[in-house]
Formats: sequence, C-alpha cells, structure tokens
Amino acid sequence: MSKSMAERPTSLPATCPQAVLFDAYGTLFDVYSVALLAEQLFPGQGQALSVLWRDKQIEYTRLVTTSNDGAHYRPFWELTRAALIFAIKKLALSAYSTRASDPFDAQVDQLMNQYRSLSAFPENRAVLQTLRGLGVPTGILSNGDTAMLTLALKSSGLHDLVDHVISVDPVRKYKTHPQAYALGEQTLGLAAGKILFVSSNAWDALGATWFGYQTLWVNRYQQPFEELDTQPSRTGHSLHDTLEFFPALTTSIHSTKAIP
Ligand code: LAC
Repeated sequence: MSKSMAERPTSLPATCPQAVLFDAYGTLFDVYSVALLAEQLFPGQGQALSVLWRDKQIEYTRLVTTSNDGAHYRPFWELTRAALIFAIKKLALSAYSTRASDPFDAQVDQLMNQYRSLSAFPENRAVLQTLRGLGVPTGILSNGDTAMLTLALKSSGLHDLVDHVISVDPVRKYKTHPQAYALGEQTLGLAAGKILFVSSNAWDALGATWFGYQTLWVNRYQQPFEELDTQPSRTGHSLHDTLEFFPALTTSIHSTKAIP
C-alpha cells in the first residue's frame, strides 16, 4: 500500500462507491488532441485522421481479442501504431495520391510521439484532488499498456493523484472482455458493484455496466448512448460528475467552501 493510501480515512459511507476507476483514452486523455498536429502534417485531413485513427484502434482491439482465442494479441501501443498507418493509407489514397509511395514514416513517428503525451482534460486534476481529499481510492483501468499509461500520467502531471494503474496487458484481452474488467475488482479487492467505473466511451460504459460496475458515462461530445437496452448508472458531461456519486461527502465540502 502506498503512503498516500495508508494516510487516508479507512471507511467511506456504505451508500457510496468504495473506489473509482477511470478509463484513460478519451476519458482522462483527449485522443482527438492529435488533430492539430495531424492537420499540420496532412492539411485538410487532421480531424478525419484523428477520428479514423481512433476508430481503427478500437476495432483492432476487438479483432485481436475475439479471433483465434487471443493468438493475435499485441500491446495497445503496437495496435495504435498499426491503426495510424491504416488511417494514413486510407486517407492518403484519395488526398495524397501523388505521394502514394511515401512510406509516411516521419509522420507516423511524429504522431505516435504526440500520442505519448496527449492533452489531459482540464477538470481532471480538481476531480482527482477532491477524491483524494475525500479518501476515495482511485485508479485507471485501461486498454493501454503500462508504459504508455505511466508516460501519459507523468506528462499530464496526474501521476501523484492516481493510486492504481491497471493495464489489461497481463490478461492479453481488451475491454469489453470480462477478464479485462475483472482486473479492477482483483486489484482493489472489491466487488464490481462497490466500484464506480468512469468512461467517456459509450461502449466501455456499457461493457462495464454489463460486468457489474456502477458506471458514469461522461458524454463529452453530445452523443447518443448505445442502443442495447442497458443504461449506465448515470450520464454526465465532464469528470466533475464523478462527485455526484458521493453526495454525503461532497455536500459538506460545498456547504463549507466559499464561492469564488
Ligand atoms: C482505454 C481506451 C479504451 O483507455 O480508451 O482503455
């Protein structure tokens, strides 16, 4: 147990989640923040590239998890790079046909470098600090491999505010596989129903709800939720909505805090 955990209050009200796990990419880190560099490298295609890159990355996680009993598993960093090359090739076919023989190595390296230190959403720090002040254990449960997650946390300055960094890499199965979600329960020593799982990815919020977590879907982009007859425990618009799960604790904070 880390020193910061040992110093905390040992019991939270039974009505509240006993810990919070956050998805990383899209939830804490803005996967579309690469669009600016993508636009510089591929004028007119930056936004499209960032969207296609992300979609393909997630598609590849499902492909390797569901095919041949996981025989084709590769760490998230490698799948991310493969997805980027696919996305560049696909867009390049129409927009950059005169450079069709260009292997794009330099652009791939630059964009992957940017992916190492994606922008974090601005409210993260305040929310993580509040949870820490309330004595709520926190963690990340992500498809990302540990090296990527550690770097992203360090470069955004959040590493001291997260108690557990849980990568699915040891089970070699990506979310929404139940073995991936089970890592959260195992690491925290709590049943999923006692843990709040927060994700901005609707499919991830759905998978976690199906697994048994309490869930918050942070709908950052005004999207519809998945149409599969299950809803997350709550829907919000930023990470601040995490605190709605702790009314007994946050009421006293709000009532004593001066309004700026
Ligand atoms: C993650 C991806 C799915 O961090 O956003 O797990």
